[in-house]
Amino acid sequence: MASGQLSRAEALACSGCRHACHVMLYADTKAQLFGRIPIKHIILMQMRFDGLLGFPGGLVNPSEETLESGLSRELSEELGLALPISVEDHVDSCYAAPSSPSSSSRLITHFYVKKMDEEQIREVERAAASTAADHGLEVLGMVRVPLYTMKGGGGLASFLSHSFIGNARSQLVHSMLRLHLVAPGELHKALMHSLKTHA
Ligand code: GTP
Ligand code: MN
Ligand code: MN
Ligand code: MN
Ligand code: MN
Ligand code: MN
Repeated sequence: MASGQLSRAEALACSGCRHACHVMLYADTKAQLFGRIPIKHIILMQMRFDGLLGFPGGLVNPSEETLESGLSRELSEELGLALPISVEDHVDSCYAAPSSPSSSSRLITHFYVKKMDEEQIREVERAAASTAADHGLEVLGMVRVPLYTMKGGGGLASFLSHSFIGNARSQLVHSMLRLHLVAPGELHKALMHSLKTHA
């Protein structure tokens, strides 16, 4: 495990910590942009109330709910659908960087990944934009991540140059690599380009 990471059990042993769980929902697709650029995969993120990109999910209270049932509850609020999340969907847990030096209790963020069908992703998008209680409040909208690179460099590089909450950007990058959603060389180029466009 990388430094700063802890196992699910170690994380839960910290009684004084606050816990947040977020999930990357994704699917394969045969769709092509402009009829020629393969979309390959749909990854869902959200535009948050604070203008930052992040994954759906939120704060969980382990004294009242399991991490996974708490994440399901957050998904009901933010996506308008009760998606079952299981322990097998857990990827990693780590300490979040303190948001302010005076913040009292440490935050542990738990990350999950769940593969769905393209039609299930569409159902999530429909519910998130209509019946979700948090729509237009905590969540301004769901967005798909462009995984391709256009001739001028647009696509993934431009997406990565936006601002993300916490370590959501590295959660996205590591997941794309681990699940082979983008070729390593293409991802590397997009990361280099996103730093340039950011400056
Ligand atoms: P409230 O209902 O207003 O409490 O929000 P919430 O429960 O939905 O919490 P939120 O999703 O904002 O997550 C809680 C904290 O986790 C945030 O303040 C961030 O520090 C962190 N966080 C939020 N989204 C992500 C994410 O996608 N990845 C990571 N690593 N951390 C996140
Ligand atoms: Mn068009
Ligand atoms: Mn929430
Ligand atoms: Mn949230
Ligand atoms: Mn919440
Ligand atoms: Mn809330």
